[in-house]
Amino acid sequence: MTNASHEVAKGPHHASGAAPSALSAHSIVKRFPGVLANDSVDFDVLPGEVHTLLGENGAGKSTLAAMLCGLYQPDSGYISRNGERIALSSPRGGLQHGIAMVHQHFRLVDRFTVSENVILGSRDLSYRLNRSELEDKVAAVAESYGLPIEPGATVGDLSVGQRQRVEIVKALYQGAEILLLDEPTAVLVPAEVEKLFENVRAMTQAGKSIVFISHKLGEVVEISDRVTVLRNGRVTGHVSGRGTTDTKELARLMVGRDIELTTQRASHATGHEILQIRDLSLTVTGVSVLSDISFNVHAGEMVGIAGVAGNGQRELADTIAGLVSPTSGSVAISGSMTTDRGPIHARELGLAYVPEDRLGMGLVPSMSILDNLLLTRDRRVVVDRTTVRPEAMRLIEQFEIKANGPDHVARKLSGGNAQKVLLARELSGGRTATKLLVVCSPTRGLDVGAIETVRALLDDARSAGQAILLISEDLDEVMSLSDRIFVLYRGRVVHETPGESARLSTVGAAMAGLTPEGNS
Ligand SMILES: Nc1ncnc2c1ncn2[C@@H]1O[C@H](COP(=O)(O)OP(=O)(O)OP(=O)(O)O)[C@@H](O)[C@H]1O
Ligand SMILES: [Mg+2]
Repeated sequence: MTNASHEVAKGPHHASGAAPSALSAHSIVKRFPGVLANDSVDFDVLPGEVHTLLGENGAGKSTLAAMLCGLYQPDSGYISRNGERIALSSPRGGLQHGIAMVHQHFRLVDRFTVSENVILGSRDLSYRLNRSELEDKVAAVAESYGLPIEPGATVGDLSVGQRQRVEIVKALYQGAEILLLDEPTAVLVPAEVEKLFENVRAMTQAGKSIVFISHKLGEVVEISDRVTVLRNGRVTGHVSGRGTTDTKELARLMVGRDIELTTQRASHATGHEILQIRDLSLTVTGVSVLSDISFNVHAGEMVGIAGVAGNGQRELADTIAGLVSPTSGSVAISGSMTTDRGPIHARELGLAYVPEDRLGMGLVPSMSILDNLLLTRDRRVVVDRTTVRPEAMRLIEQFEIKANGPDHVARKLSGGNAQKVLLARELSGGRTATKLLVVCSPTRGLDVGAIETVRALLDDARSAGQAILLISEDLDEVMSLSDRIFVLYRGRVVHETPGESARLSTVGAAMAGLTPEGNS
């Protein structure tokens, strides 16, 4: 499926012999075993410009960005800065040229505090400051960019969204002139995205350059001066951004066909109660994270939990999955108590779980796709690996996982493809019959084609009578899929509404803790 180059329009900066590009890639080639990740890629970003890289999962975006910042070295081709050829042998080398990258997979040290992580690798003399001076300095930088962080917090305790904020603050702290942002908004809530975009605009006005990567097409249209589309490692199109393109056109350029993201709600009557949560409360080191939560999810029903990250969603999901014991209250799956009985028991009762933290909890990075797919199989059954191989290959095909085959190591998958492996495992019928599916942000980081596939699979699971609990910060997703919606705020359910009649303004207000109907 080769695609003709779409030269729709050129960016405004291309008019005539303007200033040299701030950073360029020239005929870059990068191979990994069995994959041509970048195939003669030309790319450049001008001073004061936002240039977006767009493409399907596994198209080669992160790989290109990694070479632009010095993390990977090209097999052939070269990089230039302000028109001069440079060789970057490490990210430190990139920093010396004012290039910093915010990575898709976090590269923070869990046991360090936020401020320790921020100064890690920077060349200034921050390490000479005492702890409180350092924390003040880091907090001030974060605040000035409208990205509040708690400098003294241990990174391991933070939510995925909070960690992303730390990554961004770290790059900004290092004083980069060229910032490579690899899906920075995937784990930010809308208000944080707006803040980030304000910063991006302020930075470009000050002459800095931004290379932006995102699968959220609305954002891409909003923020980009130019967009370059990658497909299977090759540049297949250029479009000028803002105002001259729309999300439909971008989707078509990316996947080569029209995408429909409308989904219906369950039209059929729902069945008996599969998940029963009663008066659930959880207190962690004296802080109440869940209070008095009670609700049920029925067979054939999708219940959505909306809320801003850090309001108890992760703990609620982990408690249902048996990974955390509640302080009081109970969880039952199909009438059997799972409280205090651990994650294996919950799985045996028919739970499938897609956690928020994919590479931390969901997948084992050092294991192959095949072994990751087998990870949650019923332990009482001896698995014959030769028979599951074809099944793994079928899943790789169904989910369009870009990999060399079932033996491909999870760590070496692109971000979206790693996520697809986890979804394939939890959504496929191959495991113990699923009765209850708990999914956290199932489409985060997926390209539009994959989002379509995953939403259809969730619909199928619901039609097949599974009870689904959808926990997501993507309000559009919760609103368009759920039969019933609960809003979680500070560990409490503060609003409940049928999905059909849910209003964006009301749900949004409840998420911000501003609900007149709040029962807290
Ligand atoms: N370290 C690595 N070792 C082996 N293969 C790799 C490695 N990193 C990336 N790849 C492969 O290179 C290809 C491009 O991956 P890349 O991460 O650049 O994709 P991407 O466009 O960023 O996708 P996504 O949207 O899913 O993040 C994929 O086929 C991936 O499996
Ligand atoms: Mg990527």
